[in-house]
Amino acid sequence: MALLKILHYPDPKLHTVASPIPEITDDIRGLAADMAETMYAAPGIGLAATQVDRHVRLIVVDVSEDKNALRTFINPRIIAREGEAVHEEGCLSVPGIYDKVTRSERIRVEALGLDGKPFTLDADGLLAVCVQHEIDHLDGKVFVEYLSRLKQSRIRGKLLKQAREAM
Ligand code: NI
Repeated sequence: MALLKILHYPDPKLHTVASPIPEITDDIRGLAADMAETMYAAPGIGLAATQVDRHVRLIVVDVSEDKNALRTFINPRIIAREGEAVHEEGCLSVPGIYDKVTRSERIRVEALGLDGKPFTLDADGLLAVCVQHEIDHLDGKVFVEYLSRLKQSRIRGKLLKQAREAM
């Protein structure tokens, strides 16, 4: 296993739309394991393959307090949504930035597990937020895109400055 480098906003690669995974190979299983390790080390509650510069439809999520409820979704799709809820979100690709985003309150997700078997999950609360946030990454969307243009430009400026100072 290995820790993967996480792309930071405004890296244009974060806007790549990820491709479906046609077959669960050793490479995909290895990527899922490395993504889980990277997410726990960060620490974070979700990570999309897009964020580690692999543009395939794979996300890992663990919103549990004890970090013992890892969920891996391959080719996830939201097939039903209900209600609206506002939560404060952050993102490992946008370090230090937190802001409120409105999303569906309850969702039904369809995906494949790492064993290749399809499953359906009904999610609400933090899990629903996290799954929607991560699927957005696969579609090339970062949560700051829900904020005003002014906020987005401030965030871009702040992160570019951080990146320059880190060099
Ligand atoms: Ni994120």
